[in-house]
Amino acid sequence: MGDLHSVPGSNLTPLGLIKHLDNKLLIDGKLVAAKSQKSFPIHNPATMEVIGHAAEADAQDVNDAVEIAKKAQKEWRHMDAAKRGHLVTQCGDLLEEHQDELARLMTLETGKALRTESQVEAKIFANTFRFYGGLALELKGETIPFSDSMLAVTIREPLGVVGAIIAWNVPLLLMSLKVAPALVAGNTVVIKSAEEAPFAVLRAAEIMNTILPPGVLNMISGDGPTTGEALVRHPDVAKVTFTGSVETGKKIYKNSSEKLVPVTLELGGKSPMIVCEDIAVDKAIEGAMTSMRFTRQGQSCTAASRIFVHESIFDSFLEGMKTKLNELKIGDPMDMETDVGTVISPAQHQKILTYVDIGKKTPGATAHECSALPTDPKFSKGLFVQPVLFTGIPNSHKLSQEEIFGPVTILIPWKNFDDVINQANDSDYGLAATLWTNDLKRALQGVHRLEAGFVQVNQNVVVQPGLSYGGMKSSGVGKEASLEAMLEHFTHKKTIIFNMSGV
Ligand code: NAI
Ligand code: MG
Repeated sequence: MGDLHSVPGSNLTPLGLIKHLDNKLLIDGKLVAAKSQKSFPIHNPATMEVIGHAAEADAQDVNDAVEIAKKAQKEWRHMDAAKRGHLVTQCGDLLEEHQDELARLMTLETGKALRTESQVEAKIFANTFRFYGGLALELKGETIPFSDSMLAVTIREPLGVVGAIIAWNVPLLLMSLKVAPALVAGNTVVIKSAEEAPFAVLRAAEIMNTILPPGVLNMISGDGPTTGEALVRHPDVAKVTFTGSVETGKKIYKNSSEKLVPVTLELGGKSPMIVCEDIAVDKAIEGAMTSMRFTRQGQSCTAASRIFVHESIFDSFLEGMKTKLNELKIGDPMDMETDVGTVISPAQHQKILTYVDIGKKTPGATAHECSALPTDPKFSKGLFVQPVLFTGIPNSHKLSQEEIFGPVTILIPWKNFDDVINQANDSDYGLAATLWTNDLKRALQGVHRLEAGFVQVNQNVVVQPGLSYGGMKSSGVGKEASLEAMLEHFTHKKTIIFNMSGV
C-alpha cells in the first residue's frame, strides 16, 4: 500500500509536517491557500508557543469547497456501493499506517497526552473508517408486498454535500464519526475543523485524498461565526452534522432550519455515575477514573462529572479516588511516561479555574486537589490543571448542573435508590450514564429509568464503532458510530413502485 499511495511529507517530523500544512485548506484533492488570505495562529498548549497557522476560509472559500464537493458527488454517488466501501476501508488501512504521525500532530496542537490519549484515538480513528467501509452493502431498502403485478420497494440514497463541523477535544474521532458514514453512503463532505486543532484533521484529509477521487472529501478551517456559519447556511449543503457546545448547536439547528435540511447534533453532557454499596470499591474507582476521562483532563462530553456514591462506602471511595488521582503524572504531553497533558486553550483553562473557584467559595464544599502540576520551566506557560474532586456540593448546584469540560467532578452521597435515580435525571443533559451494582433488580430498574442515550452497567467504554452513540434532552439530536447512524442520518429513503399490470 505504501508504494501505491505514497503520501507527501511522510518523512517529516511533526513540526515539519505542520510547515507543510501551514495556512492551507484542502479542496479538490489539493492543499491550497485560502482566497481570504487570512490566517490565525495555532498554539502548543503545553508551552503556548505558536506552532503554525491555520487558513481562515471565508464565504468565498467555503463556496469553492462546497461547489467542488457538489460536482464530485455526481460521480461518487453512482459508484458501486461496494467500491465506495472498499475505498473507505483502504483509507482506514492507510490512516492506520500513519497513526503515529497523526497522534503526534494531535498532541502538539491539543496538549493531550500522547500515550494515554492521542495514540488510542488515532487507532479508533482508523478502525472507524474500516468499520463503515465494511457496511457499504448494508445500504439496503425494503420490499413492500402489494400485489403480484406490482413491485414496491424502498432504496437508500445519499443526501448530497454534507457539512461537518467538529470540536477540538477528539478531533480525529469526531472527523471519522462524520466523514466515514457520509462517504460510504454516497455523500461528499466539507469538514470544518475546530479553531484550536486544525492540523491532524487536515493531515488525515490529505492522506485520504491519496485514495479518494478529488473533491469527495474537502477540509476547511476557520472560526465559527465566519466559516462555520457560511458552511451551515450554504444552499448546496444538504445535511449538517455537528459536535460541540449546546449554545452553538442551537444556532446551527436554527440556521439549518431555514433551509429545512436534516441535522445531527452531538452536544455536551453532565453524565451521572451511580455507585451502589454492593460493588467492589476498587473496581468502581477504576471505572470513575476512566469514566471521567481524567487522562483527557475531563474534556469529554460523556465525562462522569457527577458521581453518586452510596453513603456507606462514600469515605473509602473518596480516599481511594484521591490515591488514584495522585498517582497520575501530569506533564509533557509528548513524553511516554506522562498520563495527563494540558487543556486546550487559555479560554477553557480560565473557564475551568473559574468553576473551581466558585466551588471553593461554596459554604460547606471541599475541593480535593490531586496530583501535582509540572515544575519544569519549559512548561511554565502550559495549560495544565490539577484534577479536583468536590464534596459538599449538592446536585442542584451550578457545578453539578453546568458542563465544566475539565478535570473536575462532584462526589455526592446517597441513601435511597429511587432518590438517586431522580437526582441523576435532574439535569438538562442526557448523554451517558453508568450504574455500578451486582444487584440485578437495581441494574434493570436503573437502565430503564436513567434518561441518557448510552447507559452502561459496571463499565464505561468510550465510543466504539458499532454502538449507537448520541444523547437526549440538551445533549443532542441523532446518533453516531453505528449502522443506524449511517442509514438514518446520511441517507434518505426513496419509495418506488412498479406497476406492470395492463401495460
Ligand atoms: P463550540 O461549540 O463553540 O465550537 C465547536 C465547533 O463549532 C468549532 O468548530 C467552531 O468553530 C464551530 N462553531 C462555533 N460557532 C459556530 C456557528 N455559529 N456556526 C457554525 N459553527 C460554529 O465549542 P467551544 O467554544 O470550542 O467550547 C465551549 C464549550 O463547549 C466547552 O467548554 C464544552 O463545555 C463544550 N464542548 C462540548 C463538546 C462535546 O464533545 N460535546 C466538544 C467541545 C466543546
Ligand atoms: Mg464557542
